[in-house]
Amino acid sequence: MGKLTARERIQGIVDEGSFHEYDMFVEHQSKDFGMDKKIFHGDGVIIGTGTIYGEPVAIYAQDFTVAGGSLGLMHARKITKIMDHAMKMRMPIIGINDSGGARIQEGVDSLAGYGEIFLRNTQASGVIPQLSIILGPCAGGAVYSPALTDFVFVVDNISKMFITGPEVVKTVLGEVVTMEELGGARVHAAISGNAHFFAMTEQECFEQIKQLLTFIPWNNQRKARSFPAKPPKPEYKINNILPADPTQPYDVRDIVKAVADDSEFMEVQQDFAPNIVVGFGRIDGETVGFVANQPLVLAGVLDCDSSDKAGRFIRFCDAFNIPIVTFEDMPGYLPGVEQEHMGVIRHGAKVLYAYSEATVPKITVILRKAYGGGYIAMNSRHLKADFMFAWPTAEIAVMGPEGAANIIFKKEITESTNPEETRKQKVAEYREKFANPYVAASKGYIDSVIEPEETRMLLKHSIEISGNKTVMVPQKKHGIPPF
Ligand code: HXC
Repeated sequence: MGKLTARERIQGIVDEGSFHEYDMFVEHQSKDFGMDKKIFHGDGVIIGTGTIYGEPVAIYAQDFTVAGGSLGLMHARKITKIMDHAMKMRMPIIGINDSGGARIQEGVDSLAGYGEIFLRNTQASGVIPQLSIILGPCAGGAVYSPALTDFVFVVDNISKMFITGPEVVKTVLGEVVTMEELGGARVHAAISGNAHFFAMTEQECFEQIKQLLTFIPWNNQRKARSFPAKPPKPEYKINNILPADPTQPYDVRDIVKAVADDSEFMEVQQDFAPNIVVGFGRIDGETVGFVANQPLVLAGVLDCDSSDKAGRFIRFCDAFNIPIVTFEDMPGYLPGVEQEHMGVIRHGAKVLYAYSEATVPKITVILRKAYGGGYIAMNSRHLKADFMFAWPTAEIAVMGPEGAANIIFKKEITESTNPEETRKQKVAEYREKFANPYVAASKGYIDSVIEPEETRMLLKHSIEISGNKTVMVPQKKHGIPPF
């Protein structure tokens, strides 16, 4: 079927010769539905430990050739054993999912197995990185466990994720759909947002896993590895990216690449909610998480999906000691009936919550527009940003000059002998007075107005002096984020 075997997959990820398999001889104990006559080797899952870059990782791979990789009681016990091991040893866990979900013949035992896995996913959340790869038609619990983990990887044509497969959809709804339409890799990378990384081949996917592991720490008590500092590539010239006309878009990823070491940027959820860009890079050898409005798409507004995407990424960075750099250029939250009905209030609140809650070093650079709720949401001083920088092109205001002038000078404009001319004058007047960084800087909301070419140097300085950042948070069991 063009798929690697479960063992080949593990070998493709861990350091050569480092894999040590556990529980190879475990078998199912089930007797119903003729199961007593069936042997499922290793009960359809391979578990063990190995190393990546010489550091320990726990890994499991479901084997679709054995009962469709379906999860029975012993299969689940193998997975929970390796999860417990990963937690105890504080090492990342990588799950390779290729399974039809709960093994139907084993009934409630398989459901119990999934419950035990979900519980461990939740307990491990924020303690060790949990990475999930979807490498086959995965249904039910085989997609809910990944949904509880930090990053989900999919491969074109091979990965399928759904709660119930096409057979069940046909039975219950009478609808005929293909697996690809229901939950193919592209669907989850671009539409549902369930996947974080998309690859064309399994090999490319394994390279992505290894690249991600260069950026993130092995557990929440450690920092990510430091690398020798490298300057950004000369083709990314930070002064040439922002267009002279403030209404023209540009690709904010070029700004990220113009400050990141070697211009390396590992984008997360690249094709989902592209009006916000999130991902990992390094400044002077240290990992940072970048969060940036993307003016190329919907002018970089925050909407339901982009708020979910940013909120989750910020919380990952915060849990794993990764400083957050925010590049801001956006006109606010997306208005309209559709967004309001989809819950832009509660989704948008996730960004406010995530930034406010985060205690890692938080640095914001306002590049251009910082209007209204967007100004507050995108890691403003008021949400406890540690460093607030603005380029001279920054416009910090309640709304854009056009809208603002039309509202507050409505009377002057309509009563004027030349309304269009008066409108233009009032827009210019508003822009001059408020659509600049100096009003905010005069109140201390912005620390410095900086030239674009100073950005990398100031990011480096900010990260360097934040090494011992200490924040006391009120004692509580946990907050109640708007999720
Ligand atoms: C037992 C299963 C199985 C399952 C597949 N197989 N899923 N056996 N329990 N859940 C077996 C098949 O019987 C077959 O065995 C082999 O695996 C390959 O399956 P095929 O159907 O031939 O493969 P394919 O056409 O590729 O379809 C794959 C599939 C489909 C889309 C995954 O098998 C499917 O829809 N399975 C059921 C999915 C599902 O509804 N699972 C339960 C979800 S509930 P043989 O012997 O013929 O090779 C759940 C609970 C947790 O997971 C929910 C958490 C919230």
